Amino acid sequence: MRLSSLFPFATIFAVASANPMGRAMAVHESVAAVPSGFAHAGSVSPDQQITLRIALAQSDIAGLQAKTYAVSNPANALYGQHLTVDEVAKFVRPTSVTISEVSEWLSEHGITAKNVSPAGDLLQITVSVNKANALLGAQFSAFTHSATGKSSIRTLSYSLPASLQSHIRFVHPTVAFVPPLGAPSLNAVEVKRDVVEKRAAPISDAVPASCASVANPACIEAIYGFPADKANNSAQNVLGVAGYIDQFANFADVALFLRNLRPDLVGSNFTVVEIDGGENDQGNAGVEANLDIEMTISLAGGVPVSFISVGDDSQDDVDGFIDIVNSILATPIETRPTVLTTSYGFNEQDLPPSLAIGICDAYTQLAAAGISVLFASGDGGVGGVQPTECTTFVPTAPGGCPFITSVGGSTGVPPQVAASLSGGGFSNVFSIPDYQANDVATYISSIGDQYAGLYNSTGRGIPDVALQALNVEIAWLNSFWLVGGTSCASPIFAAMIALVNDRLIAAGKPVLGFLNPFLYSPAGRAAFTDVTSGNNPGCDTDGFSAGPGWDPVTGLGTPSFSLLLRAAGL
Ligand SMILES: *[C@@H]1O[C@H](CO)[C@@H](O)[C@H](O)[C@H]1NC(C)=O
Ligand SMILES: *[C@@H]1O[C@H](CO)[C@@H](O)[C@H](O)[C@H]1NC(C)=O
Ligand SMILES: *[C@@H]1O[C@H](CO)[C@@H](O)[C@H](O)[C@H]1NC(C)=O
Repeated sequence: MRLSSLFPFATIFAVASANPMGRAMAVHESVAAVPSGFAHAGSVSPDQQITLRIALAQSDIAGLQAKTYAVSNPANALYGQHLTVDEVAKFVRPTSVTISEVSEWLSEHGITAKNVSPAGDLLQITVSVNKANALLGAQFSAFTHSATGKSSIRTLSYSLPASLQSHIRFVHPTVAFVPPLGAPSLNAVEVKRDVVEKRAAPISDAVPASCASVANPACIEAIYGFPADKANNSAQNVLGVAGYIDQFANFADVALFLRNLRPDLVGSNFTVVEIDGGENDQGNAGVEANLDIEMTISLAGGVPVSFISVGDDSQDDVDGFIDIVNSILATPIETRPTVLTTSYGFNEQDLPPSLAIGICDAYTQLAAAGISVLFASGDGGVGGVQPTECTTFVPTAPGGCPFITSVGGSTGVPPQVAASLSGGGFSNVFSIPDYQANDVATYISSIGDQYAGLYNSTGRGIPDVALQALNVEIAWLNSFWLVGGTSCASPIFAAMIALVNDRLIAAGKPVLGFLNPFLYSPAGRAAFTDVTSGNNPGCDTDGFSAGPGWDPVTGLGTPSFSLLLRAAGL
């Protein structure tokens, strides 16, 4: 199912056909056949109402990207001058020509659209299937996702008036056949703890061998040099943890975790923000949600942690991945996160390129506004979010977006080795950003023609960094468990970034914001210990190997808190 390579955005079939309004139509996006994993499930009533989003051309996304790089590159005079949401909106807001052309077209069909993004670049319409077919020269019908039975209404192709092609990025959901987001498999193994365990005293010398088999907060702090001091600057330094698919973080489990493993932080708590009908069901503790909250609260002591519970009523039809961005942009700066960590993701090939780019453009707005956006890199090695059958390597999304920091996995006592599940590889949608161009070129030349044809040698490489991803101890269902996955690594790194931000705020400096140009800068990379051993098997291969320098298994390596502080000029 390689939608991305076979069916690019704005395909070349310029089949002009007249529609009832007399506008010449041209196919905008299409797929040749129903993607594998989905089955056609018959027609739908022409009167059935469907909701579509029209992504308008943004006035200057290239300008936003350039500005985001400028304010995030330590070598640039504008470093740290993060944009306000209004400044971001100026780049993203469609031109008045785009707005009037598109509304004229919609009004010809008697349709009024509603604005659903702060900058007005996303319009939403609710129309009958009949009307949608007429508007878009489409044939909407029912499809079922075979593995889950989840049904959806999609079309294999849609057209736009030729004169509007440049004013509309995409209409969604139309040709996107995206498998429902699955819970990352953390392979939770219960460990017996009959008595309240005293927190292992902070480890000051060598990290004990026991940390290789049970990575509790004391181990993780020792491995990466987390500070003992609690953060003091809670204002404008919220750490956001994204929660999806009815995964709820449990107050009682988190309290149990802290009592046992960070007694000095007992009483620390998290707040819950609910969007898209998200809930806070305390009768339904999610292993992923607990992991993410326990890592952030226990490691970023004193930093306010906000669990953003994204419900099933997503407006974006990508499980809320774009809705959460618009929600954060609409949050007052005092409570807006400065770091956002997400332990869920897609295989890039399951997203039409227009949508992968649309998601990336959304997160770029957060990056521009000074928010560090972290995503777990996936748990299937070179095979994607989870181990899958594959004939070519499967990069993950949205970590392949150049404005996101992709967090891979490592394990063991220092010097750490790669966790074999660590998602890594090269995007088929996003080209190599400048900040890692030399690193990627050096790695690719080091492997010669190994795996030629299985990965895209011009694509953005992931992950950027790696942290603990195996044998991580958590509390869940009133008990203790060991879990594994890059789902552990992303919140751990988020906690570290939040603590650096705390020190920066205390020093009167801007927070780190979009991390990658800083991480790959000479000062930034000096804060990492290169991981040179291990590999990430998948697709019936041994996967890539970690080695000296950046690699698509562990990125730049594992961070040290004190060296990151120094890199940040503290
Ligand atoms: C926070 O304040 C306490 C009390 O003044 C101090 O001991 C601690 O070092 C501070 N933490 C940081 C990170 O500066
Ligand atoms: C955390 O906050 C929730 C919701 O306000 C509350 O029910 C719970 O008791 C709090 N936990 C602690 C340890 O304060
Ligand atoms: C490889 O990646 C580039 C982006 O760097 C993309 O334009 C191209 O289509 C990709 N090739 C394939 C075969 O997917």
